[in-house]
Order: sequence, then C-alpha cells, then structure tokens
Amino acid sequence: MEIGTVIATSEDPDVFGFTFLAKREIKAGSFVGVGVPQGKAFAVITNIVRTNQYFASPEIVRGFELRGSLADVMPAQHWECWLAKARFVGVSSAEGFDRVLAPPSPGEKVFLVSADELSELLGLAPAGVGIGVLRTHPVPARLDLTRLFQKHVAILAMSGAGKSNCAQVLVEEILTRRPDQGRPAVIVMDVHGEYGGLHEEFPSQAHVLDGRHVRIGLSTLSAERLREFVPEMSGAQMRELKRVLFKLKQTGRSFDLDDVLAEIERAEDLTRASKQALVGWIYDLKSLHVFDRFDFPFWPDVVVPGAALIVDLSRITSLRKKQILVTHALWELFRARERRHVPPVVVFLEEAHLFAPSENAISKRVIERIAREGRKFHFSLVVISQRPVRLSTTLLSQVGSNIIMRITNPYDLDHLRRSSEAITSQTADMISSLSVGEALVFGEAVNYPIFVRIRKKKGRKISGGHFEQAAIDFERSMNLIPRESRLETPDHVKNRSAVSSPAFSPL
Ligand SMILES: Nc1ncnc2c1ncn2[C@@H]1O[C@H](COP(=O)(O)OP(=O)(O)OP(=O)(O)O)[C@@H](O)[C@H]1O
Ligand SMILES: [Mg+2]
Repeated sequence: MEIGTVIATSEDPDVFGFTFLAKREIKAGSFVGVGVPQGKAFAVITNIVRTNQYFASPEIVRGFELRGSLADVMPAQHWECWLAKARFVGVSSAEGFDRVLAPPSPGEKVFLVSADELSELLGLAPAGVGIGVLRTHPVPARLDLTRLFQKHVAILAMSGAGKSNCAQVLVEEILTRRPDQGRPAVIVMDVHGEYGGLHEEFPSQAHVLDGRHVRIGLSTLSAERLREFVPEMSGAQMRELKRVLFKLKQTGRSFDLDDVLAEIERAEDLTRASKQALVGWIYDLKSLHVFDRFDFPFWPDVVVPGAALIVDLSRITSLRKKQILVTHALWELFRARERRHVPPVVVFLEEAHLFAPSENAISKRVIERIAREGRKFHFSLVVISQRPVRLSTTLLSQVGSNIIMRITNPYDLDHLRRSSEAITSQTADMISSLSVGEALVFGEAVNYPIFVRIRKKKGRKISGGHFEQAAIDFERSMNLIPRESRLETPDHVKNRSAVSSPAFSPL
C-alpha cells in the first residue's frame, strides 16, 4: 500500500534514512518500504512533523485571526502536510538483510510493509510464542521460541505495569505448544501466589506446590551447599561440620538435623566451645523448618516437557527462607540439566531483585552461575523485577531478550540505558510513556526493537482487588477453599526414598 513520496531536504535522503510526505495519517514506530538501488529497503518512522505554509508566518495568522479564523477564509486545512522521518533498518537481499549503501531518489514512492514482510524483517515466527500484537501494525508478535530462550529473558517494569501478566502469557504459550513444536518444562517461583490460575486453565499440565511444603533433604546435601545457607559460619566451624556430616553419610542411613545434633554431641574430637557453636548453627537451621531427610519434591521429577510447576512462595514470610528454597531448587535443577537428566527448562523468577540483588544474597551465586552457563545446556531464566537498578549486573549482562514495560523512575531508566545500547534516549522516553500492558521488546528474540501490546492472560483472574485477595488468602488459611489446585505435602515425605516421587507426577 502506497503511503507517501520521498522528498529532498537539506539533510536527506541519505544512507541512514529519508523524509517522506505522507499521504495519510501514519504513526511513529511504523515500518515502511522504499526502493533503493540495491532493491527494497525497510525503514522505521522515527518522527513525524506536521507543517502548513498558511500558518508559517505569525503576522499572516494574526492578520486573518483579527477577521475571524484563517481556516474560514482560506483552504488552509488542505495544505497541511505530514512529513515523516524514517531511519533505515536494512535492505532485503538473497543472503538476508544488508546495510543500505545508496539512498532512494527523491520522488520515490513509500509503501507500508505487508504483515509477512514485517514478520520476516523482525524475525518473528508463525509458530512462535504469541505475546500480543505490534503496537504499530496489526501483526501478531510471535517470538521464535529458540531465539527467546537461547539466553535469558528479563521482564522489567514499574509496579503494576503488567509484568506478571506478561510472564503468565509466556507460560500459557509454552503450555499450548504441540509436542512436535518442542516444549520446554516450566518452573515458576511465584513470590506473590499469582500464577494459580494456570492450573485452572491447564489442569493436567500446570500444578501448584505450596512452598511451605518444600523440603531440603540433608542426606544428599553436600556440606558446601549447606554452608551457603549460613554464610556467616567460619571456615573452622565449616570443617568441623563437614566431618560430622561425613560420619553420618558413612552410616549409609538417611538423617535429619536432629541426627546431626546427636552426632555433634557424640563427637569426641570436638571441643566444648566448637560443639556449642555448631549446635547454635544447627538450631538456627532447624528454626527454618525446611530441612528433612530427603528432598521434597525431588526436583528432577518435576521437570516435564510442556508442564509447569508453580512454587507458591506467598505464604512464606521470611525472605531468608524463600532464598534458601529457591537456591536449593535452582542448584538441583541446574545439576540435573547439566547432566542431561531432565529436558530443557525455563525458570520464571518473580521479584528477581530479592534473589539476585546487586548486594550479597544467599541465592545470588546459583542465579549468576545459571545466568552465565545455563544457555550452554538450555536452562533459561525469566527474571521479573520492578527494580532493575537493584538487580545483579552479572545477571542483567547475561540477559539475551528484554521485555521492558512502563518505567518512569529516572534511576531505573538510566540504569537500563547504560546496560543496553538498544535503549536510546528516544526509546527511554517512549518507555516512560507506555501504558499498562505495552512493552518494548528487544534483544536476541527480534531483529529490531518492537513495541508490543501484550495480550491479557487467558486464565481466570484469581484475585480481584486487594480486598478480594485478602479474603481468599484468609479462607485458604482456614482451609475453607478446596485445595485441588495445590499439592498436599504427603506425610510420607519423611520416609520416602530420595529417588522416587510417587506423590508428584505433573502429567
Ligand atoms: N497486557 C495487559 N492488558 C490489559 N491489562 C493488563 C495487561 N497487563 C496487566 N494488566 C492489568 O494491570 C494490572 C497489573 O498487572 P500485573 O499484575 O501483571 O502487573 P505487575 O507489573 O506484575 O505488578 P507488580 O509489580 O505489582 O507485580 C492487572 O490488574 C492486570 O489486569
Ligand atoms: Mg507482578
């Protein structure tokens, strides 16, 4: 569809872009095509200027306004021009996209690109992850799954901008893929208990696990890993604890913290003071109520292609406990994937700044490790945060695709601008003016940054306002709501083998 004509200005057309007189209303951010000597070039509209010679001279406008309105006397409205500035994206050639090496002629016709051309230009995939529609064209924003998850994804925005909705849309899209299209497994660290609706939508594929029921099995935990949970422990205490654990492991029987306490008491090679210090640490760990003989769940078991496990951490108040559970789950998943014992997995991490902050945190090491190495074996993170400035820079630097929604805080915007060259001061302005549900998507997933209207998640909204949510939480805590959407912690956790997990079969 022809939409305008290239004009000659003092600056362009040149190899970077051109100005064209638009025939009708157009929008900034739209993609257009134009003939150049190499073939058909594509460009994006970066700015639009409206001119009208009748209104160019203030004296003339004033003269007419004295006698009424200029528009009443002259056909001024017919002379309004829309001048669009367009910047080249590339020219399509047999090998893909090239740089534009020679500008279009003034007078050249400008076309609106077709949906197919645009999809190809942007690197969208017909069978990709459908997150919504482009803001400037009625074209579905379907992101290629491999390109999206080959590295990690960040969903960053201020509170209430639509991050969690966007993350749930991604999960929905993964769960609706056909097996032959390739389906990763999904684990969601659901800090606010918002993802339960996925179970209603996908009863056999998405399951909610109450975070309070998660257990860390001591019998299989190394001393180094245990130490991560008590970083303040000294090196000497650590060596002593290691000896105690080693003795217990040698018995070949499973053990819990009480057994560790008993073993410390029995140990003859420990001084009274050492024993006291170790017992103190063990009591500290006991107070968390997360340690047991074996893991629950057995994490490799919950990684099922095309299925999602939602770990509802909302009823755990202690941040340290949440960090410990997430740390353990991530190490177990990482090791299992590293050894190819489980299929490719995508882990969604809500409130990522709580788990991988710029300062120290129990869970930071494992997250940074996955951030650096995960892509080598298809272990992707989707980090969701409302405070990009507080996120670990190691993590942010390993993110391949960004979904940035409305952000107005100048510190956050500045931080993003410094961490990504895709964010110019112009895009930063656009990010602060996005409305709820709109996003700028850039990075590995697309050839060119795009603005997308993210669709609403399909599942029923579990919570209405804060009042309804409080009522639902209260009823849940009183056991008034049937918990079909939650996996009950089986009483047999204590005695079950670490390898089999009969209580948990997501499919
Ligand atoms: N794509 C969308 N289209 C329409 N409405 C949306 C969209 N995304 C979110 N909303 C609405 O905006 C509100 C906030 O969305 P959401 O909970 O996803 O925000 P958030 O960024 O995760 O907020 P928080 O930082 O508080 O976690 C919700 O009530 C939701 O219905
Ligand atoms: Mg949210």
